[in-house]
Amino acid sequence: MASDQPPKPARRRIVVCRGQFCNMDRRADNLLRRLEPLVDEINGDVYLKPVKLEIANCLSMCGAGPNIVIYPADAVFNHVTEAMLENIIGEHVREK
Ligand code: FES
Repeated sequence: MASDQPPKPARRRIVVCRGQFCNMDRRADNLLRRLEPLVDEINGDVYLKPVKLEIANCLSMCGAGPNIVIYPADAVFNHVTEAMLENIIGEHVREK
């Protein structure tokens, strides 16, 4: 039986590399610390969270770190700084 409701958008995943190269000087830890409230704000209190924040041990692009990949868009961000996060989330994670 087909539903009249539009399909729900795929769950978005933000994967932050916390490997040894991406986390030099705790840069990845600082990104995660800044990302958590942004993701919490998007998710709100709903049971099935639309955005999931994940940690990777290595994304195989160590020289370009800190690295973040956003799925399902397959959007890759290299040399990520805390100042870049709001734009990345606004452009690739928040629903418009
Ligand atoms: S340590 Fe981050 S991509 Fe390898």
